[in-house]
Amino acid sequence: QAQGDAETGKAKAATCVACHGNDGNSPTDMYPKLAGQHASYIEKQLLEFKAAAAGGTGRANAIMAGMVMPLSEQDMADLAAYYASEAVTPVAVSEAVIEQGAALYQGGDIERGITACIACHGPRGEGLESAKFPRLSGQHPAYIKAQLEAFRSGARENDPNGMMRDIATKLTDADIEVLSQYVVGL
Ligand code: HEM
Ligand code: HEM
Repeated sequence: QAQGDAETGKAKAATCVACHGNDGNSPTDMYPKLAGQHASYIEKQLLEFKAAAAGGTGRANAIMAGMVMPLSEQDMADLAAYYASEAVTPVAVSEAVIEQGAALYQGGDIERGITACIACHGPRGEGLESAKFPRLSGQHPAYIKAQLEAFRSGARENDPNGMMRDIATKLTDADIEVLSQYVVGL
């Protein structure tokens, strides 16, 4: 696996700025924030966008497909190192979702077979670099919601062993609404 360099990555990120923002904090919730995300996770996603774009299994997305086509594995590692080195801007959470969000995030739901999110995404929604578990805190709620729906429908099928799909298929629309607002403020 290529060793990434943040400074080189910053120079290569010129084409990403339009959507993901100057420092990876995308100004609109149409695009995910990349700042503070784990390099291992970013690199995995870039490889999978490219694999899907080439007709294989991966993460199918029409916009990102065009972006990753010209990238080498070294470019991906550099871009990942750069975004991981930036700080994500924090997001405040509304009081209304805290109780329900915390219960599901920290405890899961044994009766419904929902594994607690905290097991993989951590007490502060920080994820885990070594396991390629993404950071969730600081992300745009609309993006989190869209991803949970994509795991649930099967549109996003690049999660290892279907871990996210297994959980998402057990979530109701109301669960997804609460979680997507809750996790960003952890
Ligand atoms: C998603 C990187 C350029 C639009 C992502 C993700 C990464 C990424 C790592 C996944 C984020 C996650 O899973 O949390 C990059 C890099 C770029 C680039 C390194 C430059 C080489 C762009 C541009 C656009 C764009 C220019 C808009 C025209 C999107 C969208 C998603 C996304 C819409 C979400 C895809 C989905 O819903 O599954 N990008 N991006 N990106 N990016 Fe980019
Ligand atoms: C990805 C939320 C539980 C492992 C994600 C993403 C979201 C999310 C929103 C996409 C992030 C992005 O695109 O930037 C949640 C919630 C959970 C939960 C709300 C609880 C209801 C878990 C658990 C595990 C896990 C228990 C481990 C067993 C992963 C992994 C990915 C991921 C590995 C990345 C998949 C990939 O490589 O594309 N999760 N998660 N999650 N989650 Fe979870």
